[in-house]
This record gives sequence, C-alpha cells and structure tokens, in this order.
Amino acid sequence: MKTLLTDRPEEAAKLLQAGQTVIFPTETVYGLGADATNPEAVAAIYAAKQRPADNPLIVHIWHTGQVDELAFNIPGYARKLIAEFFPGPFSMLLPKRPLIPAITTAGSSKVCLRMPSLELAREFLKLTALPVAAPSANLSGQPSPTRWQDCLEDMQGRVGAILKGPEAVFGLESTIVDASGPAPVLLRPGAVTLEMLRRVTPDIATDPGLVAETTPGMKYRHYAPKAKVYLVEPGEIPAASTSQAGYIGLTAPAFPADFVLLAENFEEYARQLFSFFRECDRRGLRAIFAERVAPDGLGQAIMNRLRKAAGETA
Ligand code: TXA
Ligand code: MG
Repeated sequence: MKTLLTDRPEEAAKLLQAGQTVIFPTETVYGLGADATNPEAVAAIYAAKQRPADNPLIVHIWHTGQVDELAFNIPGYARKLIAEFFPGPFSMLLPKRPLIPAITTAGSSKVCLRMPSLELAREFLKLTALPVAAPSANLSGQPSPTRWQDCLEDMQGRVGAILKGPEAVFGLESTIVDASGPAPVLLRPGAVTLEMLRRVTPDIATDPGLVAETTPGMKYRHYAPKAKVYLVEPGEIPAASTSQAGYIGLTAPAFPADFVLLAENFEEYARQLFSFFRECDRRGLRAIFAERVAPDGLGQAIMNRLRKAAGETA
C-alpha cells in the first residue's frame, strides 16, 4: 500500500470516507483513524497496528450532538464531564448504540468517545462527517507517536494516508473515565487530572484494581521502547549499567549519560517522554533511566506511563 502524505484535511477526509485508514494529529498523540461504522475499515486499523482483536478503539467526534447518536443511558455526571472536558484530552466510556459495530469496541457493549481540541483534528473529523475510530498511530507495543515523522517510521506502507500536523502539545494519551455506571471511574490518567475531575464529579473512583478488569487494553505492555527502562529517584546512582544510556527527568542525572533530556516541568516531561523514548531507540541506546515524579496532577499520568514502560504492573 502506498501511504499518501498530505497537509490537506479535505484530501485525508475523502480517503477515510472511501474506507481507507488515515493517520491524523491530535493534541494528545497521533491517531490511526477509520470509519467507526464500517467493520472492514475498522479491521484495517487492527491489521495496520498489529493490534490484538480484543483491544477496543476510541471513537472520535467533533460535536457534542454525536454523543447521543452513538451512546445512550448517559448519566447526569457524564453530561457535566462532557460540558467541562469536551473538546480536550479526555475520553469517556458509555453504553453504545448499534450504529457502532462490535469490532470497533472489541465486542464490548460500551463505546469510548473523545472529542479532540486540536483545530486541524476537528476540521478533519468534521469533513469526514463520520465517527472516526482511532487508536494511537504506533505499531502495537511501541510508544505512541507525537510527531507525524514518528507515524511514518512505524506505519509507512501500512496506512492510506498521514495528515501532517503539529507536534502533539500534551504528548500523553487522553484521560479515560468509565461513565457507564452510577459513579465515574478513572481508568487511565492523562492531562485532564484527577484533581480536575474531582472538581466536577467529587465521587470519582480510582481503584487501580478496576483498571485491569474493565479495560482490556490495560493488560497489554504499552509505551515501551526497545531500550530497557529503569525508574530512578532524583540523585540516585542506579545499580544497573549506565553505559549507552539515556536519561530523562526534571533534575540532572547523578551519573554520566549519553543522551540527556531535562524537562523544566511536568508539562514538558509529558510532552517529550514518548519522542525521547523513540530517539533513544534510534540512537541504539541499551538503557533509559527516567526520574520518578510525585504522582500528583499531571505527575500521575507521567508515573503511569513510566511504570508501564518499565514493566511494573500498577
Ligand atoms: O489520546 C488518545 O486517547 C489517543 C488519541 C488518538 O485519541 N488514542 C489512544 O487510543 O490512546 P489507544 O487505543 O492507544 O488507547 C485507548 C485505550 C486502550 O487501552 C483501550 O483498551 C481502551 O482505551 N478502550 C477503548 N475503548 C474501550 C472500551 N469500549 N472499553 C474499554 N476500554 C476501551
Ligand atoms: Mg495506544
């Protein structure tokens, strides 16, 4: 398959309408999109990503009216979350209507909805006039792509087109909340933080034990570069070998590293994390040392991705 590179959302939207797979930018990470109502088009997403068939896809929308077309039994608290966090780096699980075929949700009776805020994403989605299923546009198991060049690296020849846009401003995947029950449950932390969610729905639950059970995708290894990832405390001298190693953190490493990224704050750490992982792999580094951060605010999402990359479970 020849992959078309374009910066014209009309051209990308036409291809998607014709049943093709199209990678598009969002403010979180790039997505690998297809018509969420077309089972063959959705099957092509799973094939291109080599994604296991039991891992459901997020459905992207561009106006809030689509929520009631695609989902039903929407709780009052979910309406509040929509009013507050759509559009933005936020996704919500709701009972699905039949318009969304089983393959899109991997057989689940719930659909995960997200409305991106990036202007180019909204324009593209609106031009498709369809709900668009899209996981992150990486090969399964690789770090999510935050730049179109990363998508090209993983997906050239595997998708119909790549809509070129800006580097993702958040750099981590959206916050996911299960809004299908009597009270909301945080399934994946992101740039919409627990503190922000609590201000809207104070009774939100976060039991990490629930994540593995209710979100099929959580059982797969995610966000992992080829280099082995170790988490370190500020100032720690690691026990593992630091030869051919990268380091990312807020404070300088206490050991010599071959490639260092010092972030000024949580936002920059989150934005740069996945592209740093990819750059370490390009350089053929063997180990990546990542500084732990306090799991507050955006720190919760950073620690969640770091633990997964390091192969820690929780
Ligand atoms: O920021 C994002 O969320 C990006 C952009 C492209 O929107 N998308 C993204 O998709 O990160 P993906 O597929 O890489 O991660 C979505 C996660 C997976 O762990 C999947 O299992 C879970 O959401 N998920 C999606 N639909 C679900 C459903 N119906 N029930 C349970 N979990 C679901
Ligand atoms: Mg993903």
